Amino acid sequence: MTWAVMAFGLCWYTIINQMDTKEIIRIEQLTKRFRDGEGEFTALHKIGLSFGRGEFAGLLGPSGSGKTTLLNIVGSLDKPTEGRVTVLGKDIARLTHKESAMLRNRHIGFIFQVYNLLPVYTVFENVEFALLLQNFSAGERRKKVMEALEWVGLAHMPNKRPDKLSGGEGQRVAIARAMVKRPEILIADEPTANLDARNAHAIVRMMKQLNKELETTFLFSTHDEKVMGYLERIIRLEDGKMVSDEWVNVKTKKT
Ligand SMILES: Nc1ncnc2c1ncn2[C@@H]1O[C@H](COP(=O)(O)OP(=O)(O)O)[C@@H](O)[C@H]1O
Ligand SMILES: [Mg+2]
Repeated sequence: MTWAVMAFGLCWYTIINQMDTKEIIRIEQLTKRFRDGEGEFTALHKIGLSFGRGEFAGLLGPSGSGKTTLLNIVGSLDKPTEGRVTVLGKDIARLTHKESAMLRNRHIGFIFQVYNLLPVYTVFENVEFALLLQNFSAGERRKKVMEALEWVGLAHMPNKRPDKLSGGEGQRVAIARAMVKRPEILIADEPTANLDARNAHAIVRMMKQLNKELETTFLFSTHDEKVMGYLERIIRLEDGKMVSDEWVNVKTKKT
């Protein structure tokens, strides 16, 4: 009897451990070409990368190096031309339109440089919007939205309209909107490009805290030095090619 319990326990321990270190994004030999007049333009060339659960990683590189193209494919907003991208066990190229939408709605949050809040809705409603495609009751939605607003320090202004917010506050609402569904993956494409230094630091610190608390995998694109200081892994792109992949700032990893 005791042995059976121990074996059962060990089995669960192994499963949970594997879940912890699970690879959640795998990119193999990824090439992306766009039509360019008569010819073709190669935006990404044979990229190979893998991301585990809970990473805080960034793509760096000059404008036009392929950062957004790579994030869009991982976010299932676009498809590879060649190679394979697997996100949460799903081959992005094989997903139907509906399956792609489902993957994004349930499992991937997005934050962009321009935060695109809906102007006629309140802060609360802008965040709640991300939950409307799932079957939560109004009460559950309220609880989740208020919790997300607390994460970003805006629980005291749920009824404000976007035009009454500062830039930093607007981007915080965008973070709450992206995180409210507790996605496994958060994609942030140059999230601090429109912010001053104080707000940029505050926002990246907030994201790092959420990364640690919720074990969300964060994938940034940036050329902001302020963001770089918080990243744990830096992947550099040049002309669509990966030129380096380094673990950095690891001392801050446990803080
Ligand atoms: N839909 C598209 N059609 C044609 N070319 C594109 C498209 N999207 C991106 N590109 C080109 O691919 C290259 C990489 O773009 P992008 O991924 O946006 O770079 P980054 O985000 O690093 O600035 C650029 O030269 C850009 O012009
Ligand atoms: Mg870009």
